[in-house]
Amino acid sequence: MTTFVNLLELESLAKPRLPTAVFDYFAGGAHDEITLDANRRVYDAIALRPRVLVDVSHRDLSTTLLGQRLAFPILVAPMALQRMAHTDGELATARAATSLQTILTVSTLSSVTVEDIRPACALAPWFQIYVHQERALTEAMLERVAACGYGALVLTVDTPVLGRRERDVRNTFQPPPGIAFANMMVGKGGATTGSAERDSALAMYFAARHDAGVTWKDLEWLRRVCPLPLVLKGVMRGDDAKRAADHGVNGLIVSNHGGRQLDTTLATIRAVAEVAEAAGTGVPVLVDGGVRRGTDVLKAIALGARAVLVGRPVLWGLALDGEAGVTRVLTALRDELDTAMALCGCASLSDIGRDLVVI
Ligand SMILES: Cc1cc2nc3c(=O)[nH]c(=O)nc-3n(C[C@H](O)[C@H](O)[C@H](O)COP(=O)(O)O)c2cc1C
Repeated sequence: MTTFVNLLELESLAKPRLPTAVFDYFAGGAHDEITLDANRRVYDAIALRPRVLVDVSHRDLSTTLLGQRLAFPILVAPMALQRMAHTDGELATARAATSLQTILTVSTLSSVTVEDIRPACALAPWFQIYVHQERALTEAMLERVAACGYGALVLTVDTPVLGRRERDVRNTFQPPPGIAFANMMVGKGGATTGSAERDSALAMYFAARHDAGVTWKDLEWLRRVCPLPLVLKGVMRGDDAKRAADHGVNGLIVSNHGGRQLDTTLATIRAVAEVAEAAGTGVPVLVDGGVRRGTDVLKAIALGARAVLVGRPVLWGLALDGEAGVTRVLTALRDELDTAMALCGCASLSDIGRDLVVI
């Protein structure tokens, strides 16, 4: 296994292991990648105000989310097509999340089926949904997810259309042969990404199949066809958070899709306090985008998040060493959070307050 000391080193270590088009698909963002950079940079600009002379000899990083107990407040974000990073793909990621007692979020566009992933997870995984124009296809998908015991439904709301990822356009990105959207190959309405035209295959798939007309009204439909707790991923404003809470949504993820959708949006950490305040105490708020350091996790919690999700570093760990690589990535981030808590005078997550950060 390639050794690494921190998560920021992973991208350059993984790069030589991957075909250029796959690396670019994983690493890239929309347009000028300004949001991609900002997500990370803004964390660095937030200063900590540690408390001293607190007994931190025993620290508890555990938390509860939608009825499940996690060992630490770091989940795996939904990411498509993980078999492009490692032959075990989502199965390896699921096993790593299981060994550390955290939750995996499975993408609609996973390269292993939801049924095959489920037994590899101890905690019930969350399922991320993209709504297809053929609603029957989405309904069938949701039935399968509920039937095999997923723990929550995550509706991605920042993707009515796919952001323009110029690296993928230049590479005419296509998944390598033998790797496809596994969930869509089951039953009717099967889909492949293949196309001979000159654009990213994912962009073309979205343009052809994804429903850009989803609105607040559709939350009722989703609730009707799927009994799982509903989480919205991609909320960036207080007014939308309030509206979501009024609709009875069970959780929110502050996200700009890791800078892959609308470029020049606010860095996610800058939206957390507003969203958490508007959502109220009954709706847990999570955040993703650029989380690479334990201090980032602590800052997110200080500003009102209950937990964070981590994206690309998981793919880099997967590319470097499959399940063991992902385990090391999540362990490194968990251990950094543990150290950051000790150094800030926090013995548990509930000790992490707004007073610890200056933005
Ligand atoms: C390669 C890749 C694929 C992704 N696929 C999905 C997806 O299928 N559904 C989704 O809601 N978000 C998807 N995302 C966004 C992530 O869930 C998450 O919001 C983002 O990666 C977090 O930022 P980070 O990578 O800086 O940690 C993807 C991100 C990457 C990097």
